[in-house]
This record gives sequence, structure tokens and C-alpha cells, in this order.
Amino acid sequence: MYLFKRKDELERHLTTARNEGKHIGFVPTMGALHRGHISLINAAKENSDLVVCSIFVNPTQFNDPKDFEKYPVTIDQDVQMLTEAGCDVLFLPSVQEMYPDGLTAKMHYDFGTLETILEGAARPGHFQGVGQVVHQLLNLVQPDKLFMGQKDLQQCLVINRLLKIIHSQVELVICPTIRENDGLAMSSRNLRLNPAERVNALHLYQGLSYIKHHFKKDSLKDLKEKAVKDLKDSGFEVDYVELISILEDGSVIFPENAGTTPLYAVVAAREISSGVRLIDNMQL
Ligand code: PAF
Repeated sequence: MYLFKRKDELERHLTTARNEGKHIGFVPTMGALHRGHISLINAAKENSDLVVCSIFVNPTQFNDPKDFEKYPVTIDQDVQMLTEAGCDVLFLPSVQEMYPDGLTAKMHYDFGTLETILEGAARPGHFQGVGQVVHQLLNLVQPDKLFMGQKDLQQCLVINRLLKIIHSQVELVICPTIRENDGLAMSSRNLRLNPAERVNALHLYQGLSYIKHHFKKDSLKDLKEKAVKDLKDSGFEVDYVELISILEDGSVIFPENAGTTPLYAVVAAREISSGVRLIDNMQL
């Protein structure tokens, strides 16, 4: 696996590959890799000639400075996992390399209501930061396909929108959430949980599963209230539990109001003893 820390080195390498007719698959990450990330690398390998992964803990997408400081960094292990998975290129830039002119955004993306609901409401500015860094990475890598995980469902919708805004031909491939054996969605943030908190974190999955199995029988309002109560009783601060549908144009609606069948249950909650905020979603 080639490892590049500089943009010009990466661009030179990928220009040669592209001139050889290679189709590039790209997996952007913030590191602390787990099997969920590796499933994206595998999907990219199956669908491209050359796989590029980036690891960059992007400061502009953290609205909470403590979350940024505590974001797990496991570079040696990440490199080993990517090598074993058969990734071709790792891009590992510094903050200075990505933001030589400072962190202030030069562009504002119109993500519409995606920016004011759910994650957008809970993490002001987060999606602008995601847009800023993914736009830059896409310009550098110029992939044919971009692979992202369904666990960050709203992020996938934002990136779908970004691709339209920047008139990109890149195909976004959304890959299924990978779970631990007991159902917990894999997340880099799980590394910050001690064994007891790790067990407690399972309440998100259990809440979503309950909704999945009861949404045809119980009222959506009751289901949401039950899930929120269960999470609060288990030591969580709940940002939201919602049932949503996604329209063809990629916007999100709340079917309770719109009279449509919900498609996903989504949840975000902070485990109080660890301070770790977790998200998950489940197709209904
Ligand atoms: O999902 C992530 O890890 C990040 O938000 C991403 C897409 C790599 C942008 O920093």
C-alpha cells in the first residue's frame, strides 16, 4: 500500500493510475478503523481497479471541541488493517496540508433542511465541515465511486446533495451498517466506552429493533416516547428518536405529519457516564 501525506504526491500517483484507465474507488474516513470501514474497502475493491482510503480527523466538522480532542487515533493499527484488506493507497494528510489558509470556510453549501433537522440541529455547522473536507478530498482523489456507510445516514444524504451542488459525476455507494454480534453498530467512538458503558450502548440498537417490530401496530408517537423513555432510564441524554422517510430528491420528511409510511428509525443519544454520543438507524 502506498502512503501519501502530501496532496501533490497523491495527485501525481492517481493521475498516472487514471491515465492507465484505472477506475478509482474512494473511502474517506477519520481513522480508528473497524470492520465497518473494512467493509467499505471491500466494497470499493469489488467495484474499482484502485482503492484509495483517506484518514483525516477533520477539525471543521466537530462542533464540540472535547469530541475532537478525544476522537480516537490508532494509526499503526489502521495502516495494518488497510494493508491486510488490500487497500492500494492511503492518504494521511495533516491539518496544515488540508487547510493551509486556516480553518475558516471559503464556501457555504446549501444543504437545505438536512442542515436544520436531526444531526444538523444537534450539531450546528457539522455538515458544513463535512462538505468542506469531502469536497476537497473529491477534488484531490477524483474517484469514480465514493463509498460511505449507512450508519451515517444523514451524512450520506448530505454528500448526495453535495455531489449535485458541485455537479460531480461521482457515484455514491451506500453500504450497510456493520454491527457487533450483539447488534451494536460499529463506530470509532465505541472505543471510548468502558465494558459497562459498551453494554449500555446496546440500548440504541434495542430501541430501534423494538420500533422495527412494532411500527405497524403501535402509534409512531407512542413508539418514539417509549424509546426516549427507555434511553433516559438507562442513563442517556437523548437528542432525538425519529421515524423518517427519504424523498426521491434526497430530502427527509417525518411521516407522522405527512401521512407517509416511515422508512427508517433514527436515534442519537449521549451515554452520560462516558459522555460519548452515539447514533444509529434501522430500515423499517
Ligand atoms: O464519516 C466520517 O468519517 C467523516 O465524516 C468523513 C466523511 C470522513 C469526513 O470527514
